[in-house]
Amino acid sequence: MTVSSAPGKVYLFGEHAVVYGEPAVPCAIERRATVSVEPRADDHIRVTARDLSLDGFTVEYGQSPDERPDVDVPTPLVEAATGYVDAAVEQARDAVSDPEAGFDVTIESDIPLGAGLGSSAAVVVASIDAATRSLGVELDPVEIAERAYQAEYEVQSGQASRADTFCSAMGGAVRVEGDDCRTIDTPNLPFVVGFDGGAGDTGALVAGVRDLKERYAFAADTVETVGDIVREGETLLADADADGDPDEELLAELGNLMDFNHGLLEALGVSSRSLDNMVWAARMAGAHGAKLTGAGGGGCIVALDPTPETETGLRFTPGCEDVFRAELATEGVRVEAESAVGARGDDGGEAGERDEGAE
Ligand code: MEV
Repeated sequence: MTVSSAPGKVYLFGEHAVVYGEPAVPCAIERRATVSVEPRADDHIRVTARDLSLDGFTVEYGQSPDERPDVDVPTPLVEAATGYVDAAVEQARDAVSDPEAGFDVTIESDIPLGAGLGSSAAVVVASIDAATRSLGVELDPVEIAERAYQAEYEVQSGQASRADTFCSAMGGAVRVEGDDCRTIDTPNLPFVVGFDGGAGDTGALVAGVRDLKERYAFAADTVETVGDIVREGETLLADADADGDPDEELLAELGNLMDFNHGLLEALGVSSRSLDNMVWAARMAGAHGAKLTGAGGGGCIVALDPTPETETGLRFTPGCEDVFRAELATEGVRVEAESAVGARGDDGGEAGERDEGAE
């Protein structure tokens, strides 16, 4: 059994605009998806999802379309879990040059699904790492990030940037602008996350922004203005002392930019009443700034507040189901446990010894 984990993330600035080549700054947080992989003797994939905001289930299927899973749980939930795992497995098969490698995959995640905290990117990144390691191939995090991006790009029909997957693979704060992905230094930012218990449909939300942008020049300008906010924000971060806690002045300036960024995301139609409620509750409680994080439509907001006030305020906000402080995850993808490799399946069968009849 090989076990890898990868962190979720919050966007300090720049979601959506990053899809159109503007820069974004996501920050990895200490909420992780943990994926355990055991190579199989056949070419099947069995996915067991233990949490992921859904009731646990197990599905097993082979490679041909008529072997797709037939299970008694709502199809979109199965697709959400298996679509990303399938794409990750394809990347792992390609990386180990074995198109017929089969795996038992178990996912445990404390990142709510579709809530703007990068759950799918974390699952894909950890799956690629665990699956390749389980067959004796160790990829570096930059290659995992690239393969995870290809997997997300495929599942999201081309509507994905490199931001979520690069951030999850590398950890820390990152800056992504098109193909240019790099890690950056930041002080220890005091993130508070509020979660409304819901989720957004990333594909539909990205498509909505694209439509607005194509229809109205001012919507295209709005996307570019988000890029200006990010550029302003990264200058502040570059000038800040990356060791230790940020000073009040920096938090106030970053907070202003977050507020502005949220306003523009709201204008682009990707906020929701509950996200706006939580953003306002955080501001009223004294947060330096607050914005939705990720695709929007429902899910999470992120606020900056070193004091307990925002957590308390959000806890008493109707529609806010969970509140937590999110520490920056300095480590990206990492192996948690590794057993001897080279064998495929518990029976110790080497590559080439696969039970071809097992379907
Ligand atoms: C989703 O977490 C972030 C978006 O910018 C889409 C993407 O970057 O792929 C909305």
